[in-house]
Amino acid sequence: MAIQDITWHEAAVSKHDRRCLNKQTSSIIWFTGLSGSGKSTLANAVDWKLHEQGLRSYVLDGDNIRHGLNKGLGFSVEDRQENIRRIGEVAKLFVDSGQFAITAFISPFQADRDRVREMVESDEFIEVYVKCPLDECETRDPKGLYEKARKGEIPEFTGVSSPYEEPEAPELVIETNCYSVEECADQVIGYLKEKNLF
Ligand code: ADX
Repeated sequence: MAIQDITWHEAAVSKHDRRCLNKQTSSIIWFTGLSGSGKSTLANAVDWKLHEQGLRSYVLDGDNIRHGLNKGLGFSVEDRQENIRRIGEVAKLFVDSGQFAITAFISPFQADRDRVREMVESDEFIEVYVKCPLDECETRDPKGLYEKARKGEIPEFTGVSSPYEEPEAPELVIETNCYSVEECADQVIGYLKEKNLF
């Protein structure tokens, strides 16, 4: 079947209708950073704070998504690109459904992050750089992966044998080695409030 044989079907209920029903706005809060930088922890802390306030949100997490939807994708440049493209599409569906999509993927390449940014409206993508020095991530090494990567047991490991491109113009930079989880989550919530997204 060719793509020209598939017709887009306009939804009866619009994004605006869904946001009105949910009494909230919706956007992608895109966390990017090294493995062990604290993306998942921060994503879940922000998710909980939104939930407590009666706002709808959902966390899409790298390790979890790779167990299901993106099972079969590895860590080559091409597979990471496809991983991020699919997550971008899923996150866009969440935005369309009137909820916050909170994503926690290393997403090491600027071009892949920019492609997701282009999928949604300009105010619907909030790039958050979860900044933590590599040596601190390696010291934390919560899954023991850096140790394995240094021994050469995991090829193309981000920060060790595969690059991480720091965000060029993120909406937010959160330094997880300087603040507590609570303080970091409050910085994100503070940004959402400032932009009237909360
Ligand atoms: S991404 O680069 O494609 O965005 P993603 O966030 O989905 O990566 O997955 C990263 C997680 O996979 C890491 O937190 C780590 O637990 C695990 N992992 C396994 N192999 C690698 C690797 N080669 N590079 C980075 N992370 C890896």
